[in-house]
Amino acid sequence: MFYTQAKALQRLLRCKHTFGSTLKSRKASSSRLVLGIETSCDDTGAAVLDETGAILGESLHSQKEVHLRTGGIIPTVAQQLHREHIERVVQEALGRSGVTPGQLSAVATTVKPGLALSLAIGLDFSRRFVRRNDKPFIPIHHMEAHALTVRMLRPVAFPFLVLLISGGHSLLAVARGVDDFLLLGHTLDEAPGDTLDKVARRLSLIKHPRCSTLSGGQAIELLAKGGDRTKFPFRTPMGQTYDCCFLFAGLRNQITMTIKKKEAEEGVEPGAVLSCVEDMAAAAQHSVASHLAKRTHRAILFCKAQGLLPENSPALVLSGGVASNQYIRKALTIITEATGLQLLCPPPKLCTDNGVMIAWNGVERLREGKGILSPDVDVSYEPKAPLGVDISAAVRAAAIKLPPVRIKIPN
Ligand code: KG4
Ligand code: ZN
Repeated sequence: MFYTQAKALQRLLRCKHTFGSTLKSRKASSSRLVLGIETSCDDTGAAVLDETGAILGESLHSQKEVHLRTGGIIPTVAQQLHREHIERVVQEALGRSGVTPGQLSAVATTVKPGLALSLAIGLDFSRRFVRRNDKPFIPIHHMEAHALTVRMLRPVAFPFLVLLISGGHSLLAVARGVDDFLLLGHTLDEAPGDTLDKVARRLSLIKHPRCSTLSGGQAIELLAKGGDRTKFPFRTPMGQTYDCCFLFAGLRNQITMTIKKKEAEEGVEPGAVLSCVEDMAAAAQHSVASHLAKRTHRAILFCKAQGLLPENSPALVLSGGVASNQYIRKALTIITEATGLQLLCPPPKLCTDNGVMIAWNGVERLREGKGILSPDVDVSYEPKAPLGVDISAAVRAAAIKLPPVRIKIPN
């Protein structure tokens, strides 16, 4: 049962909506306070925010090193690590904030989409927590949280275009409100972070002295700085498909075939690091960036043709783990500059999964009285959950051809 507006008003003090400086911690004020909990994939995150977006306390346990060693995320391992760390992570965030459970206005937790076994840990923990402390519960859509994080940092009005790119997702959407999204395109196979992680594994970058602790995407970005992308001219996917969807598996296949060929030429066994690894990384990164830039360019032109973005200061928000990549940011800057949009990216720390973005989404929902549940309501997690209303068929039907734009970025 949803809390009625009246009940929400009764329970929660209404405060003025402000956008404050946010990365600084500060002591709890009389503002409403939200605890956010994230366990959708391989990061256990928690944070306490006040309603201006000030981070009062946060904690994050990353499983990256474990999954790097096993060559990818094993869901049962991820679940066990969430189970082992969630209590500590939440207590740390609360302890650092100086906020007691009784002072919280609500608890917001990711319930979709994500790995079932991981989501289950966050949801079970949160269910017990809100019942024990008699607090409202706000179920959060992980991708909505990525999309709205930027509003915690600066006043970005709806509607805006958003490109979300991570290890599990690749999508373009128009954010029209806290719970109102139009999905323009999404990946039809894998996500760009997944592609970069798999390419990095195929290149054995974990054995490279400069990359042993980096995620695949980070390793590719680092090595690409010293490489020449023109040595391996991979084809950008979907050149003849005039929509905003993405395909990455074919590109990965092109890269894998080229790696095999180079291994044969250099006489090295699969598993050894190739001498041309930097050029390969640069070419792979460029192809991913170019694919993302082209689909985004079409999304911008579609939005303009349909009047979906404001004429004054239209914005493209870029987020998700892959959005930390500076080369990809530059490629998208070329597109936004050519089309008159402003490119807005949260700092890398807030692009990857974290509890802060979940707490912020809780704040946004709390302010609008949307999706606030009483502590005894049964909520299920949903591993698959599309974002908003899917209008990708209308985008495809518009079949917009792109004017030529050169994605030329110095290393
Ligand atoms: O959003 P995120 O933390 O988790 C989800 O997938 O939801 O994103 C993790 C992904 C990984 O695939 C990682 O390789 C990629 O983001 N990534 C990067 C960079 N940093 C992280 N990809 C490219 N360049 C980076 N600098
Ligand atoms: Zn994510």
